[in-house]
Order: sequence, then structure tokens, then C-alpha cells
Amino acid sequence: MKVSIIGGGGLVGSCAGFALQAGKIVRHIHLVDVNQELCEGQALDLLHGASILADQKITSGDMKSAGDSDCIVITAGLRRKPEESRLDLISRNVTLFRGILADLKPTIRKDAIVFVVSNPVDVLTYLAIKELGLPASQVIGLGTVLDTTRLRSMLAQRLDVPPTQVDVTIFGEHGDSMVPIWSAAQIAGLPLEKYPGVNSQLIAEVEKKTRGSGAEVIKKKGGAGFAVGVSIADVVHAIALDQRRILPVSSLQTGAYGLRDVAISVPTVVGRKGVLGVVEVELWPKEKMALQKSGSVLRETIEKVL
Ligand code: LAC
Repeated sequence: MKVSIIGGGGLVGSCAGFALQAGKIVRHIHLVDVNQELCEGQALDLLHGASILADQKITSGDMKSAGDSDCIVITAGLRRKPEESRLDLISRNVTLFRGILADLKPTIRKDAIVFVVSNPVDVLTYLAIKELGLPASQVIGLGTVLDTTRLRSMLAQRLDVPPTQVDVTIFGEHGDSMVPIWSAAQIAGLPLEKYPGVNSQLIAEVEKKTRGSGAEVIKKKGGAGFAVGVSIADVVHAIALDQRRILPVSSLQTGAYGLRDVAISVPTVVGRKGVLGVVEVELWPKEKMALQKSGSVLRETIEKVL
């Protein structure tokens, strides 16, 4: 599988490239960036490690050279300032993003999966669905995959339990209105609320820290890199291996959880053809309401700016 990363010179794109290389699954990693020199440098640096990691092809090139990709990851975009919300970014990023879509549209394969990471990711995923003319199932946004790993990993640290055994997922907007689903949270298959050391204050603290994580890493190191990189690779691998894993990616909603005509994260089955379906379960009423509120926040933004 050939995976192209648009914005491959940047922090997010290059970390995604490295995560895909370390993952040793995809056949070809191709980087594209407006900053050609930087992009070539990142590809070269990855290539230098190939003999230790995996038999993958690693290249860089222009937008046209991404056209024959099985999966196109779009990470290009302006980064938000620490005090700015992801939605504030929108007017600055929509124009740039429309340009990328216009460049891609004539060359893209009919069966390609387009994977949007640029922010505000839910709004730009919706825009890509509308502008590319691909079936909506082939356009996926990173959504709350990154927020979910942040929440799980930081909860694990607080409780001193293995991060991979923390099972709690965030749905909704990748942004301020994100909705952690505490009603279904478990540690090693045991109910979270009964787990030793767990109390409502700890849960509230970790939730707050997760909500502010994007801004915190921007402030401290200029932006997310490693965690977003592995989040991207996790989704790309589910596509490449047709794993049909249930992931909190963003996709066009047609009624589940009362959400319609908006791209937002809900439990989504991801495989080689993209979105294979969504899973609807009963949530706590306050969670369902928060999810619908999150959908309205995004819907309002879409109406305002697209
Ligand atoms: C973050 C950016 C990638 O949450 O949205 O760090």
C-alpha cells in the first residue's frame, strides 16, 4: 500500500511517517510538502534508517506524485496558537485546504482513502467529503483518536496501570466539545468506577488535562508530534490490514446518535474500504446530549464558514 503524507515536512506529517516506518506494515511512504527541501530532508532521514526497520519504499515528491496512492493523509495546515481554539483556526485553514483538495482531485484514485488530520479536523473532513466527489465512506478524519489515547495514557499514569489496558473512548468533536464516554470505561475489563484509587475528582482532573492537551503541547514544544504520529499510524494500519477495528475516527453521519450531515467521531468500523459502518450503543443520557451538542457546534461552524 502506498501512503502519501501531504504536509510530510512538518512535525505532524514527519512523525506520522516515522510511525508508519516503525510500524513496518505499509509498503511505500511518500512525503509531499510545500517546503520541498524540508520534505526531501525528512524522507532522506527516514530512508537512512530503512535497513534497520523494514523493506519499505520511502520517497518524496509533488502533489501529482501522490495521485496513485491507496491512502492520502492530509496533515498540512497552519497550527493554532495556544490561546486559540481549533475552530478559530478554520478561516485560516479552509482556504489552504481547498487548494490542496483542488490539486488532489484530478489525480486521485477512485478507490483511494483520504485521511484528514489538519485542523479543525471535523470541519475539514466534511469539506473533503463535499469537494472530492469520492464516496463519503472513503473520507476519514483523525477525529478523537488522539484525544482518546491521551485520556487513556494519562489515566494509566495516574492509576499506575498499563496504558493498553485502559479502555475509555472519546467521541464528538476533536475540540472543546469532545465527549469522554465514562459510562463504558474499564481497566482490564473491570469497571473503572470500582477500580482501586478511582474517584470522581481524579476522573475530572484527567478529563480536564486531556481537553487542554493540544494547547499544552503547543505551548511546551510547538505542537503534537509523537502521539499524533502513532494515532495516524494506528488508523492507517487498520485500513492497510482491513482490520475492521472500531475506532473513534470522524466521518459523515447519517443518523446514528441523532447526528446528521456533519463529520464527527462516533464508534466507527475501519477497514480497507474506509468507513464500513458505525456502532450505536446506549449511552448515559448526558453523554448522548453532549454528543448531540458537539454535533450542533460543528454544524454551526460548517454553516458559517463553508
Ligand atoms: C492536537 C492537535 C493535533 O490536539 O489538534 O494536538
